[in-house]
Amino acid sequence: MLRLGLVGCGAIAHTHTANIVNKLKGAQITFVFDVFSAAAQKIVRDYNLTAKIASSIDELVNSEEVDAVLVCSRNDAHVEPILAAIKAHKPVFSEKPLATTYEDCQKIVAAEIEENQRFLQVGFMRRYDPFYQQLKQTIDGGKIGKPLMGYCRHFTAEPATNYFETPNMINDAFIHEIDIIHWLFGDDYVSVQVQYARQNSLNKNDNLVDPQIATVKMKQGAIVNTYLTQNSQYGYDVKCQIIGEKGIAELPDMPKLEMHSVGKIYHEIDHDWTYRFEEAYQLEMQDFIDQATRHEAPTGPTAWDGLVAALTADNAVESQQSQQVVEIKLPERPVLYQ
Ligand SMILES: NC(=O)c1ccc[n+]([C@@H]2O[C@H](COP(=O)([O-])OP(=O)(O)OC[C@H]3O[C@@H](n4cnc5c(N)ncnc54)[C@H](O)[C@@H]3O)[C@@H](O)[C@H]2O)c1
Repeated sequence: MLRLGLVGCGAIAHTHTANIVNKLKGAQITFVFDVFSAAAQKIVRDYNLTAKIASSIDELVNSEEVDAVLVCSRNDAHVEPILAAIKAHKPVFSEKPLATTYEDCQKIVAAEIEENQRFLQVGFMRRYDPFYQQLKQTIDGGKIGKPLMGYCRHFTAEPATNYFETPNMINDAFIHEIDIIHWLFGDDYVSVQVQYARQNSLNKNDNLVDPQIATVKMKQGAIVNTYLTQNSQYGYDVKCQIIGEKGIAELPDMPKLEMHSVGKIYHEIDHDWTYRFEEAYQLEMQDFIDQATRHEAPTGPTAWDGLVAALTADNAVESQQSQQVVEIKLPERPVLYQ
């Protein structure tokens, strides 16, 4: 049994804990920590964990009863437990984004390079979604020829929180496309541009410009547009269409019952993100557990992928100010991540 220390006990920690307790194999949570101690107590209670409550990140990471660390704390609180886990030579899974500044991402990459070993998996779970997996295999298998361009949709019925502001559209929503697009195309970004479309009068948040369109360009010339809104009203709608030299591959609408009702035939759409990537959350965590149990480096998104996402997101937020194209100056990929 892999013994996990959980840092941060909020919403996504509950998703992962429920999966570890009820669905996944080979792991148990033995230590938890949250700056808000009631959150730590609640997760232990809710899932009948036998876990101890740590009084600090240091105590949790360095406990002999912890083999690997899960970081589910607030965005700006990922870097400390990640660096502590790398120092302790323990596998670490961190929710996305890797960190909130490019400098912190660089520190994490530097720490792994210093140890000449990869310990970290970043929670870009879409890579584990069976449909995104099929998309990747289709592109890599050459079935649509070389990928030339793409269209993504990232729609949420209503803002995730009432403090969701213009930059959150990049840092919390588009960041998922940032990771998935460069993975699907197997290429690095050279530029990003964010533009504002006609504003949705149903958007109630004064600090949120909505909708937005983000365009990334890659080294080999491919261009992908992502349409982003937090006010679709009708539901959570994620699409990804890749157009190649000799065909198109795209994610399907999620299978739902076909309904025949008075005057219409239809199928329903989820209201929020909870269910769409349910399986992906389980598959990413099982993979992390299995690799850690085998004492092998994680196979999922790396610290480098986290750094690429952070830099691209920073440049996208910069483009929000001017709505002009911003060049992305990605350093050379270190050998450890090739
Ligand atoms: N992969 C995904 O699709 C996905 C979905 C939701 C959230 N997330 C990520 O998961 C993380 C947590 O999000 P959430 O929705 O669970 O938020 P949340 O606010 O529900 O929970 C965050 C928890 O972190 C705790 N915390 C804050 N600072 C801390 C610190 N320094 N040390 C330890 N604990 C600390 C808070 O007290 C809170 O309990 C975020 O980074 C978020 O971006 C990812």
